[in-house]
Amino acid sequence: MKIAWAFTGAGHLLRESVETLEKLATEHKVTVLLSGAGEEVLKMYGLFDRVKSVTGGYYQELILEKDQMWSYPISGRFSLGRYDLLIVSPTTSNTIAKLVHGIADSLVTNAVAQSGKGKVKTLLVPVDLESGDLDTVLPSKLELDLCQNCTTCEAAAVCPPDAITPGVEINLLKCQGCAACQTACPYGAVSGGSIITIHMREIDIKNSRKLHHLEGVEVLKDPLEILSHL
Ligand SMILES: Cc1cc2nc3c(=O)[nH]c(=O)nc-3n(C[C@H](O)[C@H](O)[C@H](O)COP(=O)(O)O)c2cc1C
Repeated sequence: MKIAWAFTGAGHLLRESVETLEKLATEHKVTVLLSGAGEEVLKMYGLFDRVKSVTGGYYQELILEKDQMWSYPISGRFSLGRYDLLIVSPTTSNTIAKLVHGIADSLVTNAVAQSGKGKVKTLLVPVDLESGDLDTVLPSKLELDLCQNCTTCEAAAVCPPDAITPGVEINLLKCQGCAACQTACPYGAVSGGSIITIHMREIDIKNSRKLHHLEGVEVLKDPLEILSHL
């Protein structure tokens, strides 16, 4: 099959999405689309290179939102029905809100809109699907209560992109998610993969429910479910 997989900027279900993409790419040609936030967040969680490595070749490109300017020419492939399937996983509440209101002003919302026009089936895995609280995972974080304000910050010294301001914060837009800082700090003041509980907003849950009204779109709870829908 010719499949397009779009990542939006969600940390939740991100690792599970990458793992499913890797499985699927062993048997199918996959083009990967990254929203601007999708690219940033994949880097923060140290998963960008894994995604990049499944791409390379015709219909196996890595498509970055920042290279598509304003008209998203790649979307033509969807309106022409050139793909067998579009997957958006994980899908942020931002992208869902746009989709249910028929907005197509970004790489991923354009791909979904044009898939509707080209009759390309779309599978969406929304992050905000059920009411209540949700446990989700954080990227690297400076734990200031553990930071000893060392004269030389070992974590900052080993950070390749120089993303750490000692005793202050990690600039996540510079962070590449390599986790070197986490092992370098002798006081364990850099965490990675901590779990936090966030509350799902009712507006986001309501929007996710409205996805069922979109023609050709199927909503899944978990990226792993994608494999049984091919
Ligand atoms: C570390 C990190 C994790 C995030 N995780 C989520 C998430 O799980 N769900 C979500 O809706 N937004 C999340 N966001 C916010 C989105 O990236 C942001 O709303 C962005 O504008 C979405 O753009 P997109 O829908 O075009 O990808 C996260 C942001 C950061 C920095």
